[in-house]
Amino acid sequence: MQQKDISITVLIDEDRYELHTYEREYRNVMVLIQDNLCPDDFGECGGQGRCCTCLAEVLNKNIELPAPHGNEAATLAKHHVTGTSKRLSCHLLIDKKLNGLVIKLCRE
Ligand code: FES
Repeated sequence: MQQKDISITVLIDEDRYELHTYEREYRNVMVLIQDNLCPDDFGECGGQGRCCTCLAEVLNKNIELPAPHGNEAATLAKHHVTGTSKRLSCHLLIDKKLNGLVIKLCRE
C-alpha cells in the first residue's frame, strides 16, 4: 500500500479535519473532501468548475498555487470572488506541493 505522504487540513465551520492522501489517489481536493467528509451541498457540479459550491479559502501563504484559469477563473468572476486566496477545490490538483495545505470551506 502506498504511503499517504500528503496532509491537507480542512476547516468546516468550527470543525478541523486532517486528511492524508498520496498523488493520484484522488483527482483533486474537492473529491478528497467529498469522499472523506461528505459536507452538505458541496461539489454539486462534480468538479466541472461551474457551481462554486466547492469554494475554499487557502489559509497558508507558503504554498504557491498556479493562478486560476479557464473554467475556474470564469466561475470565480461570475460569483464575484476576488483576491487570490479563494479557490475552487475541484481545480486544486493533488500533488506533493500541497502537503501542509490548510483550507477553510466557504459556506454561505
Ligand atoms: S465542484 Fe462545482 S465548481 Fe467545484
